Amino acid sequence: MHTAVLRPIGVTLTDLPLSDVTHSSVPHLRRLLAEHGVVILPGQNADDQAFRAFLQRFGPLMFTPGETPVERFPDLNVISNVGRTTPPRSVFHVDTSYVSKPPAYTALRAVAIPRRGGQTLFTNQYRAYETLTGEVRNRLRGRTVRHVVSGVPAGQAGTQTEAEHPVFRRHPISGRTSLYLSTPQRCVAISGLDEAEAQETIAALYAHSTLAGNVLRHTWSPGDVVIWDNGVVLHRADHHDVSGDRVMHRGLVAA
Ligand code: SIN
Repeated sequence: MHTAVLRPIGVTLTDLPLSDVTHSSVPHLRRLLAEHGVVILPGQNADDQAFRAFLQRFGPLMFTPGETPVERFPDLNVISNVGRTTPPRSVFHVDTSYVSKPPAYTALRAVAIPRRGGQTLFTNQYRAYETLTGEVRNRLRGRTVRHVVSGVPAGQAGTQTEAEHPVFRRHPISGRTSLYLSTPQRCVAISGLDEAEAQETIAALYAHSTLAGNVLRHTWSPGDVVIWDNGVVLHRADHHDVSGDRVMHRGLVAA
C-alpha cells in the first residue's frame, strides 16, 4: 500500500483493494480520514456488493430520504446525469446535516466516468477554522448553527428536518477543530445572533471555506472509490460543461 498526501486536503492510497480492508484495518483508515478528510482508493475492481461490504466495515449504512436507490442495493443511492436535459445543481455542502447524528462518512464508487468534467471538489474545514481571524473565532466560540433540510420533496424528508450543531466542531479522533457548516440555504440561524447577522456570518464563513486555495479537485478515473469524513470537508460535484454519462453509486455510513 502506498500513501500520497494531497494538498490542501486528502490522501491517495494505492494498492489497497476494498476486499483487503478488514475490521482490523478500519481503525487505520478512520485515522487517515480524520486527519486527511478524503481517502482516494484508485484502481478498484469492486461491484456494489464489495462497495457496500467495505462501507459496512465502518458501521451501519444510512439512507437519505428522497434519493434514488441502487437496484438490489436499497441502502446505496445513484447520482446520475443520464437522461437529464439540464445539469444537476450542486453546491458545497455536508450530507444530511439536518439530523442530530449526520453520517460520519460518505463514499462514491465511479460507475460511469464522463469524457470531460464531472470532478468532485472538497474543502479543508480544519484549515478553514485555523485561518479564521481571532475576532471571528471569539465571536462564534460556543455557538451552534441550525441546519435544515432542503431539496427533498415535502413529505419525503423523514421525521427529523432540522438539528443544531456546533459551528466549531472538535473531531473525536483527531482532536482537531473544524468549521462545521453547510450551504447557506441549509444553515438558517446561529444561536445568540439575530437573523440578519446570522445570515451575513454564514455567508462569510461559507465564502471563506470555499476559497479556491482551500479546495481539492478530484478528477475521476474508472475504478475509483472515494470516501470522506463529513466532519472534515464540504463537498460538491462540478456539473459544469460535463460531456458524457456520469454515474456514481453513493453510500453513507452512520455516525
Ligand atoms: C454528493 O453531493 O454527495 C455527490 C458528489 C458527486 O457526485 O461528486
